Amino acid sequence: CGIVGYIGKKEVAPILIEGLQKLEYRGYDSAGVAIYSDNDVVVRKYKGRLSVLEEHLNKEKIPGTLGIGHTRWATHGEPNDINAHPHTNYAGDIAVVHNGIIENYVKIREWLIKEGKVFETEVDTEVIAHLIDYYYEDDLVEAVQKSVRRMEGAYAIGVISKKNPDKLVAVRKDSPLVVGIGNGENFIASDIPALLKHTRNVYFLNDGEMAVLDENNITLLNEFGHKIEREVFEVTWDIEAAEKGGYEYFMLKEIYEQPKAIKETLSPRVDKENHIVLDDIKLTKEDLEKINKVMIVACGTAYHAGLVGRYAIEKFAKIPVETDVASEFRYRDPFVDENTLFIAISQSGETADTLAALREAKAKGARVMAVTNVVGSRISREADDVFYTWAGPEIAVASTKAYTTQLIAMYLIALNMGIKKGTISKEKYNTVLNELKALPQKAEKLLENKQLIQELADKQFNNQNVFYIGRGIDDHVGREGSLKLKEISYIHSEAIAAGELKHGTIALIEEGTLVVALATQDHLYDKMLSNIQEVRARGAYVIAVAKEGNEEAEKAADVVIYIPDTIDELTPVLSVIPLQVFAYYVAVARGTDVDKPKNLAKSVTVE
Ligand code: G6P
Repeated sequence: CGIVGYIGKKEVAPILIEGLQKLEYRGYDSAGVAIYSDNDVVVRKYKGRLSVLEEHLNKEKIPGTLGIGHTRWATHGEPNDINAHPHTNYAGDIAVVHNGIIENYVKIREWLIKEGKVFETEVDTEVIAHLIDYYYEDDLVEAVQKSVRRMEGAYAIGVISKKNPDKLVAVRKDSPLVVGIGNGENFIASDIPALLKHTRNVYFLNDGEMAVLDENNITLLNEFGHKIEREVFEVTWDIEAAEKGGYEYFMLKEIYEQPKAIKETLSPRVDKENHIVLDDIKLTKEDLEKINKVMIVACGTAYHAGLVGRYAIEKFAKIPVETDVASEFRYRDPFVDENTLFIAISQSGETADTLAALREAKAKGARVMAVTNVVGSRISREADDVFYTWAGPEIAVASTKAYTTQLIAMYLIALNMGIKKGTISKEKYNTVLNELKALPQKAEKLLENKQLIQELADKQFNNQNVFYIGRGIDDHVGREGSLKLKEISYIHSEAIAAGELKHGTIALIEEGTLVVALATQDHLYDKMLSNIQEVRARGAYVIAVAKEGNEEAEKAADVVIYIPDTIDELTPVLSVIPLQVFAYYVAVARGTDVDKPKNLAKSVTVE
């Protein structure tokens, strides 16, 4: 989501709209504003693109010089007018915009209802407005401070109140927020592009910090409420670079957003005692006992996440799993009945083939689950159970952060089934969860060292053919790496199970052919080293991907890219990252339109 806020002397409505336009890449399923106008807080919010809100505000002018705005990407509650931000307390005198997820909102909500507060939506943000109302005595700053102490999770919020019309209050923790320094006016925004028209001088807030703005002053407070000093940062980027967070393409930005996206998808679902809480999955232990088969169906990258999902469900929940690409699913007259759990994976939730397969499975009586990144999408609406990946909007056509969060989803679903069915030991369950929790930091570390990969891409961008090989889940990741490369660089690339090489593909290996070999699985490591030697003996240039510490790979391959150590089951979340980065830099070296590759669409809504 994106948030903006303004306090000053100018008419605020157009300033909010313009700011939100620059943040639309952060979310675009609904938008709204709250303006202090005529001694009241006036809220206008609508489902749909920002232009819908803009049209309404053009027809009905709301005068005022203090306001907040929001463009939404739903995480709780489907996109509609009511669920759009800003949210208010019941009396409507406090308005809040929020980006992030309040993890303990259900608990706070229940408590506030007991305290007599009346809620209008299921959205986590509404809780914040009621909480501030609860703590409000005569000072907005104090009420917000007390409220954030109760809130767990990630948030950047902007607050205005009818009772303190000379103030705009903002706080951040784990979600971005910048404060824009003007002359007789001040601003807040999720990101710099929203401010550049007005100012290039900004303060970045750190976690837990608050900004209190009036027309002429900005006071920054730390989490204990003490005043702090901050250096002014002068922005030198142009607007286009700023929208991509300074990255050249959205794809690279999204690759770098993965540690955060993984964390946002994972941590709200796992409590301190390692219980997994999946709000929109209603599958009970009894339901699970009936299920004798799982079918995972998807297209493209989502299908590759499904392959890893199959491995995780078979391993942890001990249920047989079939996987199909959605376009093929119906052609084999699949055996589906009421004992089948059908899982559709789709970033957009709109892919026609996936939707058609889901409908077919449903008609045959299957229990239908969706794993999707878009709240309220068609696939999510037609499914019985939904798991939302919280990757945020993905703009680049080639999918990256959607894939890694789909992997997290599949691991959580598999673990949850396993623990309910008793097919995974408590000890193993805890080990996997603890390792999952360590992944964001490991992904971050991996991304710090992109130089080797960039150099390799600069040398290897002229290949005609590239082969990706691996065994077990490494094979699944190889497929995703290969797809990434062909999608954006237009190089012919093929992924093949390493053991299948000798049955045909090895005939294509000649002097200088590039082979990317994944060798992250401990029990398959020696076999992979042999495969690497086989292709090198035929002249291949081999880039291997191995876990830190497995240095024998250096003797077999030409170059080794190391990923941080983790348990074998979870390596895909890390090993795919160097493959994404490699594909990206090869494409850049070849000068393609990385974010919008030719002939491809982000969402394919025809069969
Ligand atoms: C298109 C996109 C791919 C995506 C696939 C499935 O081909 O270009 O990146 O993996 O559709 O999309 P979905 O939204 O269903 O995950």
